[in-house]
Amino acid sequence: ISNEMWGGRFASGPAAIMEEINASIDFDKRLYGEDIDGSKAHATMLGAQKIISAEDAALICDGLETIRGEIAGGKFAFSRQREDIHMNVEARLAELIGPAAGRLHTARSRNDQVAVDFRLHVKSALGALAEALEAFIAALLDKADAHAGTVMPGFTHLQVAQPVTFGHHCLAYVEMASRDLSRCRDALTRLDECPLGAAALAGTGFPIDRHATAAALGFREPTRNSLDSVSDRDFALEFLSIAAICATHLSRLAEEIVIWATPQFGFIRLSDAFSTGSSIMPQKRNPDAAELVRAKPGRINGALISLLTVMKGLPLTYSKDMQEDKEQVFDAIDSLSLALAAATGMVRDMTVNVEAMRRAAGHGYATATDLADWLVREAGLPFREAHHVTGRAVASAEAQGVGLEELPFEALHAIDPRITKDVYSVLGVDASVESRTSFGGTAPDNVRAQIAYWRERLGEA
Ligand code: ARG
Repeated sequence: ISNEMWGGRFASGPAAIMEEINASIDFDKRLYGEDIDGSKAHATMLGAQKIISAEDAALICDGLETIRGEIAGGKFAFSRQREDIHMNVEARLAELIGPAAGRLHTARSRNDQVAVDFRLHVKSALGALAEALEAFIAALLDKADAHAGTVMPGFTHLQVAQPVTFGHHCLAYVEMASRDLSRCRDALTRLDECPLGAAALAGTGFPIDRHATAAALGFREPTRNSLDSVSDRDFALEFLSIAAICATHLSRLAEEIVIWATPQFGFIRLSDAFSTGSSIMPQKRNPDAAELVRAKPGRINGALISLLTVMKGLPLTYSKDMQEDKEQVFDAIDSLSLALAAATGMVRDMTVNVEAMRRAAGHGYATATDLADWLVREAGLPFREAHHVTGRAVASAEAQGVGLEELPFEALHAIDPRITKDVYSVLGVDASVESRTSFGGTAPDNVRAQIAYWRERLGEA
């Protein structure tokens, strides 16, 4: 017989290249735990429904547990001839328990089998991602707490814009990560339907109980349409979209870390644990981890586009094209979990150079907007005119090589006689951040209130 699963219809075996292009065992062995869980739920249900005998069901479940132990212990001989994880497990089951193994595949197909295995895998990946995001957020909140009042320059166009606090900057990433977290939870509710029992595509005539297998595998309910059940990979696409967005957030932070850690900025110092040296230049502390976090969207965005492209235009229902879903998702899971762990570690370990941040905030005329606002508030100028007056003040300070708050009063008064000495109260960076009390603004008290808000919300979750 040419194939132990379907040899009856075939006179000869596959070409070597056929076996090579067809086999997925090298990567889908990662699904062995889910495959065994799915098969046990199925066999137990078949027994309960008297589709197979209770003895056979028990024999099958015991055999599957033996196989789980063999694979976990590295003692399982995976075979490419047996193509994928599903057939590797079933063929081994036959070796272990004999003919009863042949009853496991009653009312089932590899099409619903792989769909349930993969869903279970993505479901636990989303759960793990949510946990990793919570740890990341906790690290950011701790940094924000320590630096609620640490003044730094805020940038637009990477040009100094207005003073902000480092705590506020950290909280911006908390907002992003919490949206990522809510996307995980949202995707989990849609994913929580069990395709097992859709069989090849049409359902089955056997009196199976899909609600029982769905419940046994921890799904909320069974899927409602057998065709969609074996065709759908939305859950994988959603995971990849979430992963791509999350990786994008991490890469923005990573880029900032790279910039902040340069000697020119000197805003932060990465711990030794997250820096590397140079084999030739002894002075170097390279931010390799941050650079790799910055790079990960290359793979993760690639995975998303790859699977979207595989799925595009596929007619219902299952086609082997869909076997190309797994490597992309597995790689994205691994890349993102590494990136998140590294980002969390870097944030937790970094030392903030409060003085350097403060000094930089004082350079670049970051309080120019405060001067313009003062002219509006105290001297009644329209904002546009205040903008022009302030521009002249900046030009004068620049010409004299001093900061705005160092400009002599005579110089300011000469630019506009409506300026009084009271203006100096708004030209310092502390006064600037303290004045930004609008909801969501950078005032240190606001930052502390936001930290309290997040701590409470995350405690609830
Ligand atoms: N290894 C296959 C995959 O990952 C399992 C499903 C195969 N089904 C089939 N009808 N050939 O997609």
